[in-house]
Amino acid sequence: MEEIQLYDKTFKKFLPFEDLKKAISQIGQQINETHRNEDVLFIGILNGGFMFAADLLREIDFQCYLSFLKLHSYEADTSSGDVKKLIGINEKIEGRTVIILEDIVDTGATIDYIISFMKKHHSPAKIKVATLLYKPEAYKKPYPVDYYGIKIPNKFVIGYGLDYAGLGRNYKDIYQLDE
Ligand code: IMP
Repeated sequence: MEEIQLYDKTFKKFLPFEDLKKAISQIGQQINETHRNEDVLFIGILNGGFMFAADLLREIDFQCYLSFLKLHSYEADTSSGDVKKLIGINEKIEGRTVIILEDIVDTGATIDYIISFMKKHHSPAKIKVATLLYKPEAYKKPYPVDYYGIKIPNKFVIGYGLDYAGLGRNYKDIYQLDE
């Protein structure tokens, strides 16, 4: 499909799954090389991060833990920067290398909230962020994004876990809002 209509918006094919696959494999290699001898807990961010977490974990070739977190951060097509709730950490975090798996880093508010929360309430050995997509023009935080797959312009995208008002998560490729 070259074009998808969701509600009132049209999205055009932007990144084919083959590109995502290559990017994910590169992130996987970097993480394998860097964190092989550490006690690693991956934390996937729901809902959007489920596909990326599934595909990235298949690239990891050392023993590791995986858990998922859910939070509420934005409505419809704007990232509000107001992250409110964090649900579901049951795994041990103390002393571990925590690698947060995000579908997309936009303003950075979401990862900032998670990192601050973890540092305040738990004592991880270190916290890293791995994101499939990264919008550097929108990013407002001072610290670097540790691992990212593909830098994209500051335009709204859907597919591969990412949604517009709840729809669009199921598509294998990434689509960009046609404006
Ligand atoms: P941030 O907190 O501004 O970095 O935004 C991160 C979160 O906002 C992501 O986990 C997504 O849920 C959502 N988001 C940001 N940009 C997009 C987009 O282009 N499409 C779909 N969701 C997005």
